[in-house]
Amino acid sequence: MKNLGILLSGRGSNFLAIADSIDAGRIRNARIAIVISNRADAPGIEAAQKRGLEATVIPSKGKDREAHDRQVAAALNEHKVDLICLAGYMRLLSPWFVQQFPQRILNIHPSLLPAFPGLEAQQQAFAYGVKVSGCTVHFVDQELDHGAIVVQKTVPVLDEDNEHSLAVRILEQEHAAYAEAINVVLEGNYQFRGRRLVRGT
Ligand code: GRF
Repeated sequence: MKNLGILLSGRGSNFLAIADSIDAGRIRNARIAIVISNRADAPGIEAAQKRGLEATVIPSKGKDREAHDRQVAAALNEHKVDLICLAGYMRLLSPWFVQQFPQRILNIHPSLLPAFPGLEAQQQAFAYGVKVSGCTVHFVDQELDHGAIVVQKTVPVLDEDNEHSLAVRILEQEHAAYAEAINVVLEGNYQFRGRRLVRGT
């Protein structure tokens, strides 16, 4: 059984989708060992408590980045976390933190990386006029929205879309993509060719 650690800052729909996927057996041999928010008012942390999961707030406001990350890492290690899933965690990680967990941190981003990194990716893609967007689950390295890609899912941009409707359809795919990526990583059934992750050993 592998232990997942979830880091979030907001509504937590990706966290809830991961929790539901575990309950439904779509993510195998895993449990959520701890959910950590850097914001006390994150709806996701309340949702975690309601589900009876270990949920902790480690406030980041005004704190030195690495000092905060050291507290987060201590909580993750205390709960013997094997894989860290960023789920709307709106805080940059320090190089120190990333080095502690090589290939053990996943992030989900609502665009087809490397297009539209950073904030409001769905709006960026919509405004640019792309005809296809989507989402990316990737390993976290020291550059923003940059690490090796584990899973991507595409979403067509329809003529009648607006930023909101596109973001809603991307979010549905995020939820499926995260479960798939977690299975790939936990099963360890992949290898790297350069920065390409290829399934199978
Ligand atoms: C998602 O769009 C995710 O891709 C991005 O932040 C948002 C978090 O949403 N990283 P939620 O809190 O999981 O609902």
